[in-house]
Amino acid sequence: MTQELEEVKQNVIKCTKCDLCKTRTNAVPGKGNFQSEVIFVGEAPGRNEDKNGEPFVGVAGKKLSIALENAGVSRDDIYITNIVKCRPPNNRVPSTVERNTCQDFLKEEISIIKPKIICVLGNTAFKSILGGSEITKFRGKVVRKNNQLYFLTVHPAATIYNQEFVEVLNNDILKLFQIVKELKNNKKVLIDIEYAP
Ligand code: URA
Repeated sequence: MTQELEEVKQNVIKCTKCDLCKTRTNAVPGKGNFQSEVIFVGEAPGRNEDKNGEPFVGVAGKKLSIALENAGVSRDDIYITNIVKCRPPNNRVPSTVERNTCQDFLKEEISIIKPKIICVLGNTAFKSILGGSEITKFRGKVVRKNNQLYFLTVHPAATIYNQEFVEVLNNDILKLFQIVKELKNNKKVLIDIEYAP
């Protein structure tokens, strides 16, 4: 891990900027390969993540790992983080204040890793990063905003209760890594949605 990323991690661990620090067991910094071409961004830690201090280690994490394996990608190859780094009580959706208070950590992670593309997992990340809603309508699409590419897909937790989303997530992740391959080969990637600067 780079020194800079280690600093972000330590700052997440000791953060007391919002009330989630009072109810958390552990803060959950991002984890993975700092040389990754892609950063995955989820919503917030759940019970298992709060217990272990690592992102996506519960049931939703298992679903994500399966979709990655299906695309021939290991968890060690990529970097995974969340919009909010501490578990909201009872897994409620993080509030606007919590999301805004936490946003600098994600900005720092992105500016250190400089991913070719950011995979937005689910509605909370979609709303926080791109101001979007209804991810199911936009999933599978490539977005460009301020010269950064994003790929939109459903949250892995959505696949737990809805079998239809298993295939959706698997196919989207396959498409994502096809795009990553094209980007690595300096090929032109089709942009579905362009944000005005
Ligand atoms: N859901 C998320 O959004 N993030 C995690 O780390 C775990 C579950």
